Amino acid sequence: MKLLNIAIASMILGLGVVTVVVADDDEYKNNKKYSKKYGAKYSVQPVKNELYKEECASCHFGYQAGLLPKRSWIKLMETKELENHFGDDASIDEQDRLTLLSYLVANASDSKTNRSRLSHEITRKISRYSTPIALSETRYFKKEHDEIPTRLIKQEDVKTIANCVACHTTAEKGYYGERDIKIPNYGRWDD
Ligand code: HEC
Ligand code: HEC
Repeated sequence: MKLLNIAIASMILGLGVVTVVVADDDEYKNNKKYSKKYGAKYSVQPVKNELYKEECASCHFGYQAGLLPKRSWIKLMETKELENHFGDDASIDEQDRLTLLSYLVANASDSKTNRSRLSHEITRKISRYSTPIALSETRYFKKEHDEIPTRLIKQEDVKTIANCVACHTTAEKGYYGERDIKIPNYGRWDD
């Protein structure tokens, strides 16, 4: 009887360990599962860098590194550019700037390790000769959003098209599929 209890207890403990391990990797797994179901086409790896969340997701949604190519991040993260960042001063400590730059470059849309189809699509549609720092200015992005009436973008609950998370309810997770789009004061988007 006692032995059995120990066996059960250790099974439960064992399961506990397994659960912890799985939970650690949850985000990645969910992303993969989602990709399988709704198409990797519409997902990028979520932001996993605390410094990035702190420094680059305070004024606006934390755009994932996989949404722009390396050269765009390099330009955006130049000291001069950050000092005049879309009309704001977004300059940061030099050490932090370099840390974030290497994080962004390592996870950019055209980085070797990036397997997201959405990232590849974005990369492919940007001319080699241009270096956009606003993803909302890229051809891919414009084409995907050109049917949305201006009043739905300009409205108080959205404000600008760069406010991804206002309409893409799962943007934080890196999911941009149509299934998870809900425009404030409009609802689901039917193509
Ligand atoms: C002081 C506020 C502030 C901080 C801090 C800040 N930004 Fe911004 N950022 C802005 C504003 C304002 C815009 C323009 C948003 C718009 O068009 O609606 C912007 C736009 C952007 C865009 C373009 C969005 C698009 O597609 O139009 C990117 C990319 C971006 N920021 C990245 C960053 C990164 C990376 C950092 C961290 C180094 C950062 N931002 C920190 C204020 C800030
Ligand atoms: C005003 C609401 C709104 C905002 C803000 C918005 N989107 Fe979208 N997005 C849409 C709608 C609606 C579609 C679907 C267009 C279609 O399929 O006709 C879409 C489509 C997409 C798609 C293609 C997915 C698909 O299923 O076709 C991607 C990727 C995407 N958006 C990324 C972004 C990113 C990144 C941002 C922020 C920089 C953003 N969106 C901001 C409404 C929005």
